[in-house]
Amino acid sequence: MADDPKPLPSVPQSVLELSAFNPVARDNPHPLLQSLQAGCPVMRDEGAKVWVLSRYKDIRDTVNDRSFVRHPLNADPESITARLVDPERDRRTSILFLDDPDHARIRQPLAKAFYARINKMRPEIEAMVDKVIDAAPATGAFDLMEQVAVPVPVLVIARILGVDEAMLANFRQWSEDVILGLNPVRTPEENARMLSGGTALDAYFAELMQARRKAPKDDLVTDMVQLQASGEAKIQDDEVCLNLQALLVGGNLTTTDLIGNGIWLLLTHPEQAAALRANPDLAAQAVEEVLRYEAPVQVTSRIVEKDRTVAGCPMQKSQPVFMSLAAANRDPDVFEAPQAFDITKKRPSHIAFGGGPHICIGAPLARIEARHAFLKLLARYPNLRLPEQDLVWRTLPFFRGLEKLVVEG
Ligand code: HEM
Repeated sequence: MADDPKPLPSVPQSVLELSAFNPVARDNPHPLLQSLQAGCPVMRDEGAKVWVLSRYKDIRDTVNDRSFVRHPLNADPESITARLVDPERDRRTSILFLDDPDHARIRQPLAKAFYARINKMRPEIEAMVDKVIDAAPATGAFDLMEQVAVPVPVLVIARILGVDEAMLANFRQWSEDVILGLNPVRTPEENARMLSGGTALDAYFAELMQARRKAPKDDLVTDMVQLQASGEAKIQDDEVCLNLQALLVGGNLTTTDLIGNGIWLLLTHPEQAAALRANPDLAAQAVEEVLRYEAPVQVTSRIVEKDRTVAGCPMQKSQPVFMSLAAANRDPDVFEAPQAFDITKKRPSHIAFGGGPHICIGAPLARIEARHAFLKLLARYPNLRLPEQDLVWRTLPFFRGLEKLVVEG
């Protein structure tokens, strides 16, 4: 079903205008993104000192181009990207911000071990999704975020890693705290929360690695310390620690938002929910369409390594390039009727997981969880519906997800 055509707002001038800091973009960023893509697809934001790309092709080319770098320490010190890290403290980071050769050295063995775990644990992962959904109220109104979308990802990643399930609430809180590190304009209070969440996770994982060395278990922490010990993975202790944390944190909010955004979209497009109920084989395509239509991570970035032309514009060394994944996913040059949410249509690949060497390592896991959650929810609640409510979207800039979603079973 297509949205009503409305006149587009004026072209935004700053990347922050596109984020949840702007109440208009927080409610619905898409008209602003459309206007940016049509009016200024390669924008220079002189306040934030970053470039902003919004066309699919430019973004695909950029994420695939290995000559860009990622670590914020390489960014123009006056740009908002430089504010993501503390030069004294953050020289060591997870793969999210690492560049080659360190990125490949760590990502390759980590991805291999992680994917082997996911493959082996797939039935168990689906059973965990079932368990959470079966524990939600059988009838009446409940908050889908609180009962399903928040608990599923943290339970699943905790089990894969082998962390203590009695501490799920702490992991979720520490994840929320640590992910504030991706907010380049965080307040001093948020900065303090980010640091204390990081310290708590560091201490927890360092101890867990020691424990698994002494007494191995069937989990990813054990896999990683064993790969290290055998010399197969040349990764230092603090690197293993940081990257296991990145899996815990990276998979939490994002997958929560995928599940929440997906159920919201299915219930606001009842003909799409009906199509999925009638043909559960559409589940994989439904997940891709939700990722395209409401990308949980709205922006990723790279940094120009040497003076060059990008997307037809001259750019200089150290200038950060922000890429609106959300705008690219609705680019009319690539997607037919891009403003329509349609799970029955086979579409070109979206770019919600980024691309190139940094493409989201957790994509296969997020897909399994969301696919199973959509099918299980529709099966458990044959009359699932959305009561009248004012939707509240989260305030973390460049992420898109709901604070709360009341549904009626
Ligand atoms: C719907 C769910 C998810 C979305 C939309 C998402 C999105 C993204 C995006 C856009 C990137 C940056 C890619 C780039 O710059 O090219 C990324 C990277 C990453 N994601 Fe995800 N993610 C999701 C789930 C997960 C899960 C489940 C995990 C872990 C269990 C995870 C862990 C990571 C990590 C560690 C990176 C850094 C990879 C690297 O730089 O090499 N994500 N993700």
